Amino acid sequence: MTNEELLFAAKEARKKAYCPYSHFAVGAALLSADGRIFTGCNVENASFGAGICAERAALASAVSAGVKKFTALAIAGGKDDEEARSLCPPCGICRQALSEFCGDDLPVYLCGEDGAERVTLGELLPLRFSSEQL
Ligand code: THU
Repeated sequence: MTNEELLFAAKEARKKAYCPYSHFAVGAALLSADGRIFTGCNVENASFGAGICAERAALASAVSAGVKKFTALAIAGGKDDEEARSLCPPCGICRQALSEFCGDDLPVYLCGEDGAERVTLGELLPLRFSSEQL
């Protein structure tokens, strides 16, 4: 599985985004440790707070299938009438949600105009809150 394939899956998932309010479409693709891809898109709601981000939709899809180990994430976002070309880093809630299952070393590929930018979850979420604090 190449990074390009994972980014392609994120872009394909983005086409399914339901975003009539923000007109900002996001797709996410999580690569599981056993080599499967789980995708998600943002799903908005007339009651704005009821919407869900693409990253958490992908995570919920994977965990619902019994998968909890991941090796990479790709995200594609941008205005719904344009190609995904501006970097779309995951929001804070999604970073925290991902950190429940993914380590600091998880590579996160952000789709950009010329290819992708690679960051890690640890860079995106230093000093994460974890179950160790409970
Ligand atoms: N969104 C995501 O799906 N992922 C993010 O990490 C950032 C934001 C969605 C939520 C909402 O539907 C739209 O983008 C605008 O905020």
